[in-house]
Amino acid sequence: TIERTLSIIKPDAVAKNVIGQIVSRFEQAGLKVVAARLTQLSRAEAERFYAVHSARPFFKDLVDFMISGPVFVQVLEGENAILKNRDLMGATDPKKAEKGTIRADFADSIDANAVHGSDAPETAAVEVAFFFPQIDVHGR
Ligand code: CMP
Repeated sequence: TIERTLSIIKPDAVAKNVIGQIVSRFEQAGLKVVAARLTQLSRAEAERFYAVHSARPFFKDLVDFMISGPVFVQVLEGENAILKNRDLMGATDPKKAEKGTIRADFADSIDANAVHGSDAPETAAVEVAFFFPQIDVHGR
């Protein structure tokens, strides 16, 4: 199935000047960027985007980190895009991420972990609509 998923290149990776290298990995895997922008999240936006984590002990650090600099948000489209993006990213904790994954190659810590990607079709729909309310989440 052709899917759409939300990808965020986080402030650490934007600061390292590796937006292009990360987008290249998506493209080389057959994912297409169908929407994108560089943006600075407000605290309120970051808290709303990560609301599902609001009770977790790492929530405050996560929000502080996500507003520490610009992020590059994209909608990726392709066959099995949600899982494909997750495979390209590697494990949330870069210490556990497989060799050759984006997080293994570009991330420094579980907070500064280079990228975010939607984890399931339901969250992909919500997350794509969060940043790109004007686009059809299913691409039809
Ligand atoms: P992300 O995919 O953006 O979703 C939530 C983020 O919280 C996650 O990546 C990590 O950067 C961050 N985080 C920090 N600590 C943890 C943790 N213990 N478990 C999961 N996510 C964490």
